Amino acid sequence: MTAAVAAPVAPVPSAAPAAIQVRGLQKSFAGTPVLRGVDLDIERGSVFALLGSNGAGKTTMIRILSTLLRPDAGTATIDGFDFGTQGARVRESISLTGQFAAVDEVLTGRENLVLVARLRHLADPGARADELLARFALVDAAARRVATYSGGMRRRLDIAMSLVGTPPVIFLDEPTTGLDPEARLEVWRTVQELAGHGTTVLLTTQYLDEAEHLADRIAILHEGRILVTGTLTELRALLPPAKVEYVEKQPSLEDVFLALVGGEGEPSGAGAPSTVGPRAGVPSAGAPGADATTPGTARGPRDR
Ligand SMILES: Nc1ncnc2c1ncn2[C@@H]1O[C@H](COP(=O)(O)OP(=O)(O)OP(=O)(O)O)[C@@H](O)[C@H]1O
Ligand SMILES: [Mg+2]
Repeated sequence: MTAAVAAPVAPVPSAAPAAIQVRGLQKSFAGTPVLRGVDLDIERGSVFALLGSNGAGKTTMIRILSTLLRPDAGTATIDGFDFGTQGARVRESISLTGQFAAVDEVLTGRENLVLVARLRHLADPGARADELLARFALVDAAARRVATYSGGMRRRLDIAMSLVGTPPVIFLDEPTTGLDPEARLEVWRTVQELAGHGTTVLLTTQYLDEAEHLADRIAILHEGRILVTGTLTELRALLPPAKVEYVEKQPSLEDVFLALVGGEGEPSGAGAPSTVGPRAGVPSAGAPGADATTPGTARGPRDR
């Protein structure tokens, strides 16, 4: 759909230093530009959704911000650390759930979690692993090798692994792709909880309802640049106001029944018609219920 779009929403100036600040990020692969100068400011404790079509460069952005990939130009600070000169500090401040599950298939689910907890020098790796297994409904599968897990189970384990520590910044690259509705809701709850406790979450998603539901701010990456950034309300305001259209709704059997037998309050005038009017739900003039039909809507008197 092509629509007239108002001027892009400018970044909101904030007194507190941003948890993630990106300026002029550029990256090309084999001479093909993917990022052509990206600027972002992400507030602490907020959920920020980066949207974009397939190949827009979302994963490239996340990989650069997690220091897995070098940009061609541009600067970024994560939790106050410069990703060019303080890479190790940046890595200590973040956790990343990549687009494709990065779990060890030979180990069991629990062993994967314990391994990460040990790497993060947690005092009680087993307890943390058990807590996360319960949170992500993986207790029954905890002792099974990950090679036997379904795609959704791997994804849940992968997200659980990124929550083993308590880093101030979390990157989630398409965290709910392939998850069933229940697991998706669990991830949503987790993201909200994290942000509620002050963690900054940068996520990418192809599910626009996910961004609507979770994100404090949303940016759209397109042709290497951020097209717009704003809250959902700000982005909605870019399009003309919605046009209200009346949609015909088929009457329920209850509507038909009530229209014929009288329903609440006895209809005045003649008795029940022997046949239904020319259009179902729109009794002919004088028939019971005819007065309650709104022009153009075909909504019956007891429509729900
Ligand atoms: N290592 C690489 N070498 C060459 N090209 C790459 C490399 N990594 C990414 N690209 C290209 O950069 C572009 C952006 O890729 P990226 O994975 O960042 O997109 P994306 O927005 O995450 O897409 P999707 O929604 O499909 O995950 C694509 O055209 C991709 O082919
Ligand atoms: Mg991607």
